[in-house]
Amino acid sequence: KNKRNRLPVIWLETNDSGDNNISFMNTTFPYLGQVLSDMIDLHFSNTFMAAQGPDALNILEQVSLLYRDRFTLVVEGAIPVNNNGLLCSIALTNNRPITALEAVTNLGNLAQYVVAIGTCASFGGVSAARPNITGSVGVRDVLSREVINVSGCPVNPDWFVGTLAHLLMYGLPELDRLNRPALFYGYTVHRHCQRRSYFDKQDYAEKPGDIECMFSQGCMGPVTGADCPYRQWVNYTNWPVKANTPCIGCTNEDFPDGSAPFFTP
Ligand code: SF4
Ligand code: F3S
Repeated sequence: KNKRNRLPVIWLETNDSGDNNISFMNTTFPYLGQVLSDMIDLHFSNTFMAAQGPDALNILEQVSLLYRDRFTLVVEGAIPVNNNGLLCSIALTNNRPITALEAVTNLGNLAQYVVAIGTCASFGGVSAARPNITGSVGVRDVLSREVINVSGCPVNPDWFVGTLAHLLMYGLPELDRLNRPALFYGYTVHRHCQRRSYFDKQDYAEKPGDIECMFSQGCMGPVTGADCPYRQWVNYTNWPVKANTPCIGCTNEDFPDGSAPFFTP
């Protein structure tokens, strides 16, 4: 593919654990090498790039102006707003920190699309869990423009790569009420769960490890939008319920506080 036909991307990692970029690297169709060479043009990523310090910052500034209104801003992580955002900075310039809050606000206004990867970037997630001393919020709360939320803790590589592919080939995908691509989040986990027949018969697991429906063990599948039962994880081989653990609702707006405690004894 001609380089010009790739999606120009600036990727900022903010307040998170890095699980989403690790999950992204597990992409299988297409493989990571194909994504980076044929699909996206990853100009800046404080996680993946080799450049450091002023060189990296220079690239960030130049690319955001050169590709103004044409690049996709990917944000991985929540944005802490307490203390003027000083609790998370992405760089230093003249001994002054550039906060994630400042970087996301500025770049968000220059980008064609803004994609929040993972539940922290989408809704605050684990970074915003009680007591949230950093005042972390999702990207949507610091920008007054459309943010495409690709939630998950971590994100399934297909959800993220599929969203970028859609932006590149067809533009904005159909979004659900939480601004997530309906293609991946449109149905609940419960709808296609392999243990659904047990649920319908009200045949529930008595303890973790039992083969019946895990609604009795606190499964959040009925209120969680995601295609895990048929897309699956780990190169399309497994997913939480198949691995004998309840869905903990990792794509939800109120995750993790809304799912706690994860397992009901
Ligand atoms: Fe629904 Fe969870 Fe039971 Fe599956 S295990 S049928 S997702 S409640
Ligand atoms: Fe997350 Fe539930 Fe899927 S915990 S990975 S949405 S089965």
